[in-house]
Amino acid sequence: MTLTRTKLVAVVMGAALALASVAGCSSTRSNNTPAGGATSANAASTLVGIAMPTKSLERWNRDGAHLEELLKKAGYQTSLQYADNKVDQQVTQLQNMINQGAKVLVIASIDGKALGPVLQQAADKGAKVIAYDRLINESPNVDYYATFDNYKVGQLQGQFIETALGLKDGKGPFNLEPFAGSPDDNNAKFFFSGAWDVLNPYVQSGKLVVPSGKAPKTDADWTSIGIQEWKSETAQSEMQNRINSFYAGGKKIQVVLSPNDSLALGIAQALDAAGYKPGSDWPVLTGQDADKANVLNMLQGKQSMTVWKDTRALGDEVAKMVDQVVKGQTVDVNDTKTYDNGKKVVPTYLLAPQVVTKDNVKSALVDSGFYSASDLGL
Ligand code: GAL
Repeated sequence: MTLTRTKLVAVVMGAALALASVAGCSSTRSNNTPAGGATSANAASTLVGIAMPTKSLERWNRDGAHLEELLKKAGYQTSLQYADNKVDQQVTQLQNMINQGAKVLVIASIDGKALGPVLQQAADKGAKVIAYDRLINESPNVDYYATFDNYKVGQLQGQFIETALGLKDGKGPFNLEPFAGSPDDNNAKFFFSGAWDVLNPYVQSGKLVVPSGKAPKTDADWTSIGIQEWKSETAQSEMQNRINSFYAGGKKIQVVLSPNDSLALGIAQALDAAGYKPGSDWPVLTGQDADKANVLNMLQGKQSMTVWKDTRALGDEVAKMVDQVVKGQTVDVNDTKTYDNGKKVVPTYLLAPQVVTKDNVKSALVDSGFYSASDLGL
């Protein structure tokens, strides 16, 4: 029987649960199981709520399915809900999970500042909260956070542009159009800062020019170029507007900072429509998430790179955190300083993102089983 990665993790977790329940039943049972800390023996009666923002952005479908599969294999009851990027809908879904007795809520928030009241309801019922990928702000009732290093994601995008254009070697000036993520998404702030801390010095020195004028003066001004709900079609129309307004008479865009793949997809469609040709005519274009359409675009020369976050690894880590919370064990974290949510510094587990270009699509995405070769026409 070949064990896929997911099955292997579940087997390991199941074994750990079984061992723990045996140990838990022995006469030497330690008395440090905190009140409310369910033993593994009744995992089957432990409900875990999984609240994802939307199905309309590819990655969240993978995140939700993987985490649900792992938790079910470990014996938990699960409630996986998608909120169509509607904050009120997500709040209602969370209230339902709490009323159904969820012991742990895993939440990829839509608006990181909108969950204070419902998380108080969770805390009042003794439910624990794990912020998934996106930090939840302005609430003391966020117990843990798991994500990829979001500043690093932006840094990798900025550094890719810096290298691709030879900026460190004094090359330039180049025409740059920067974009940022959804203004209600706490991650988008980190993505932009990571990239802009690399690129803004070149804007200041004139090696990067922004003909549209949409160059935030400081990291904090990032929302001025934010794309609400990360919508591809909004990014596409913004790119079209900039091309029509600032790129007449043969002037060409040479580099676009896109914080993720859904924006990059819309931007690429606008570049296509404006007559840009894949290859040397096509601007350096960044992305994030290794969405399938964007990987195909990379292979066709319509996107330069994506920052890949193996959502399976994030799910594996969060499933482990859930288990540790339920069993009242110490929860694995590796960052207890960075993520101040306005009420507390949330103990966090950070995973490492990695750059994928057309040159390592096979070794990174196919050999790891994230995509099959046939998915990508390889
Ligand atoms: C971010 C997430 C990214 C990005 C975006 C749209 O919070 O970290 O992976 O794709 O949302 O889903």
